[in-house]
Amino acid sequence: MWSMPTWGVPMLLEVKDLEVAYGDFQVVWGVSLNIDEGEVVTLLGPNGSGKSTVINTVSGLVPVLRGDILVDGASIAGQPTHNRAHLGIAHVLERRRVFPYLTVQQNLILGAWHRDAKAARDETYEHVCDMFPILRDRSGQLAHTLSGGEQQMLALARGLMAKPRLLMVDEPFLGLAPQIIEQMKQAFEDIRSTGIAILFIEQNVRLALSMADRGYVLESGRMAVSGKAKSLMNHKTVRRVFLGA
Ligand SMILES: Nc1ncnc2c1ncn2[C@@H]1O[C@H](COP(=O)(O)OP(=O)(O)OP(=O)(O)O)[C@@H](O)[C@H]1O
Ligand SMILES: [Mg+2]
Repeated sequence: MWSMPTWGVPMLLEVKDLEVAYGDFQVVWGVSLNIDEGEVVTLLGPNGSGKSTVINTVSGLVPVLRGDILVDGASIAGQPTHNRAHLGIAHVLERRRVFPYLTVQQNLILGAWHRDAKAARDETYEHVCDMFPILRDRSGQLAHTLSGGEQQMLALARGLMAKPRLLMVDEPFLGLAPQIIEQMKQAFEDIRSTGIAILFIEQNVRLALSMADRGYVLESGRMAVSGKAKSLMNHKTVRRVFLGA
């Protein structure tokens, strides 16, 4: 099924009326969101509100119960995860999942496994090492010996090795020191400037909205509010969801 906005160009990603369940336990209810080429969008919500489930469904790790997921206007809901990488969707999982007993360089190389990424692998490798010089310095070191912040950079860099059009990142700032957060923010700016769209999950509302063009706020598996980042900054629904006010 094709979906065209009124001006005729389909969105990079459209999630439509998504419902997701784990067994009999439904956790996502009628969630819709979209991302255009080059946008930076944040998905906010308290613990357990379904943020990871939504992006895990987009990348195919969790199946769609009802609703649809479209890339460039075409449904991908039934496709296996590896096909979604070919379509340009990369996913950096929660809690910086790197391969602990492979080196930094090996982790990065593995990020470029699909055909288009493989062809550009050496060039992309240099690019991500320019973005995070520490990764070049530590290229021969086993990933588990990196600090938490360095592992988060490695996880993000590995996502970029897939040469995505959309990079989905689950809680990139979790547990990072202020100085590392600044470095990550700069990396997001660098990624944005190359035209890659970013969808990221974050619990720190102010930090997330200061970086994003737009935001979506989940509450108990339903979309509570969405809009331009600036308009959400002092939105009463956002305050209610996060502060119970
Ligand atoms: N594999 C799973 N099996 C069963 N239930 C799950 C599974 N993963 C998540 N859930 C449940 O689905 C709901 C949404 O979880 P999800 O991880 O998507 O939330 P989240 O917003 O990412 O939370 P957090 O901020 O804690 O990461 C929760 O009630 C959670 O317990
Ligand atoms: Mg989560």
